[in-house]
Amino acid sequence: MTKTAPGKRLFIKTYGCQMNVYDSERMADVLRPLGYAITDQAEGADLVVLNTCHIREKAAEKVYSELGRIKAMKQRKAEAGGTMTVAVAGCVAQAEGAEIMHRQPAVDLVIGPQSYHRLPELIARAHRASGERLSADFAAEEKFDALPKARGVSGFTAFLTVQEGCDKFCTFCVVPYTRGGEFSRPVEAILAEAQGLADQGVREVTLLGQNVNAYAGEGGLAGLARRLALIPGLDRIRYTTSHPRDMDEALIAAHGELEALMPYLHLPVQSGSDRVLKAMNRGHTAQHYLDLVGRIRAARPDIALSGDFIVGFPGETEAEFEATLDLVRATGYASAFAFKYSRRPGTPAAALPGQIDEAVKEDRLARLLDLLGAQQEAFNAAQVGRTVPVLFERIGRRPGQVVGRSPYLQPIHISASESLIGQIAPVAVSAASRGSLTGTLVQSSLLQPIPEPA
Ligand code: SAH
Ligand code: SF4
Ligand code: F3S
Repeated sequence: MTKTAPGKRLFIKTYGCQMNVYDSERMADVLRPLGYAITDQAEGADLVVLNTCHIREKAAEKVYSELGRIKAMKQRKAEAGGTMTVAVAGCVAQAEGAEIMHRQPAVDLVIGPQSYHRLPELIARAHRASGERLSADFAAEEKFDALPKARGVSGFTAFLTVQEGCDKFCTFCVVPYTRGGEFSRPVEAILAEAQGLADQGVREVTLLGQNVNAYAGEGGLAGLARRLALIPGLDRIRYTTSHPRDMDEALIAAHGELEALMPYLHLPVQSGSDRVLKAMNRGHTAQHYLDLVGRIRAARPDIALSGDFIVGFPGETEAEFEATLDLVRATGYASAFAFKYSRRPGTPAAALPGQIDEAVKEDRLARLLDLLGAQQEAFNAAQVGRTVPVLFERIGRRPGQVVGRSPYLQPIHISASESLIGQIAPVAVSAASRGSLTGTLVQSSLLQPIPEPA
């Protein structure tokens, strides 16, 4: 008599960027054939994976406090006669390696971002409590080749990693050390994965990479977007994150020509001061950035721009900070992220003189966020009275409400039937707030049907 393996519960907690979100999904794909099904409760799970982020000190410290809670759960499960395996994955795993097991003995294994295809093997070894329990190499190529071809997706939008790693070595940043050098997946592998997503009903893909516009596969990112746009059912293409140095003319032109390429661009600049940009090793000036924005807007005037900023980089003066405010005013962002500089051990900036006081950083962050918030509010308010196509993704918090996104990535809430989820439909925007839009459905008889999954 054959017995089916009893279901095992897998809890994954994801920190950090969207590439970690993608990786967490792929870890679930690797573990599914072993009988692991996702649970949203860590308590009682058979395998707990923390997919971690090392970008700022706070992000890394969160992991250790979470591990403290997991340790108590592991003990409770052991007292009840069960076992819980605890794995730390992601960028903290890559950066701190075996130190994690030393600092928190409840951790059974540590696995870097390029080794997820080896999870089953490492779990088996951890269960035998012997041998290698740490895998942290940099072979991105092997990772993608060895991950299962099939992906389990839910919903109508999906992430798709096309590029990993970074060779830019901004002086504040840990990513080149945690993710290794730049690696681009071959076009054919990406097209096959995208086709698989479309077959499952996905209508929007967001192409991911630490430097996604440095995508070096055939045709570059613009060529890739054009090929992806030919896949029936894939109506929307987005990509993130881009570096100003890699924004080439072909990609700019694609924004003007390719309907499926959404008018939204995350293009971090970090600072508006040329001295600070140089000390950051960004490889561009403020004027380069503004010129670039001008060329992008010439191709696609309505594009929504987003960015990242760091305040309080070592040595940043008040005047240099004000140059950042000036650049923000000159650019006009639809939304953006701003961070206080966080000193990361091992990065060149950590050793620079002139580390800035926490109170000064707080003050600068608050002023920058005020300005960015006002710009976001203005961008959203400018949509009122327009009709925009919305891809509906999920039900809202209020009864009878569905939520989707505009081409500009703004969340839009409307009152309508759940049957709208998965469809792209025009919405007349009637009101805006800082965070979202509301409106009403127009021409409901002209809705596009959801394509039948193949
Ligand atoms: N590759 C992307 C960014 C990846 S990290 C790019 O170059 O744009 C995401 C953001 O975190 C960065 O854009 C930066 O604004 C922020 N960041 C990175 N290191 C940081 C640090 N040490 N302190 C504060 N913010 C940091
Ligand atoms: Fe970090 Fe700079 Fe690379 Fe972005 S480009 S990941 S900020 S080193
Ligand atoms: Fe964090 Fe690693 Fe992403 S450090 S931001 S999870 S690449």
